[in-house]
Amino acid sequence: MYNEKVINEFRNPQNMGEMEDANAVGTVGNATCGDIMKIYMKIEDNIIKDVSFQTFGCTAAIATSSIATSMIKGKTVDEALKLTNAEVVEKLGGLPPQKLHCSVLAEEAIKAAVNDYLKKYKTEHPDK
Ligand code: FES
Repeated sequence: MYNEKVINEFRNPQNMGEMEDANAVGTVGNATCGDIMKIYMKIEDNIIKDVSFQTFGCTAAIATSSIATSMIKGKTVDEALKLTNAEVVEKLGGLPPQKLHCSVLAEEAIKAAVNDYLKKYKTEHPDK
């Protein structure tokens, strides 16, 4: 049901694990399947210096976490906010239709982490 690229990302995930010194964290869940994705980021001067994930979910959720985190590493927070689940799916070479919803978690978790950073930044720099 999954293509080779998806299976490979699932078997050899990039950026997996907790990040102790993250300054932004986003957690989202899918109410239907109960799967949860947590994204950690280390952001400096609006650049995502490092990113990692912990995903308790299906093959598609883990593969999309892996590829999505690799797609935003080194990018600006604005670029990360623009990443869509369609781009993530395209990079994976496609997902079975019934698994497309899993890729939405990656987009949402990245947005949640960036928004966490932006919220803290605004609190620390109210004049900006
Ligand atoms: Fe829950 Fe894939 S089935 S994220």
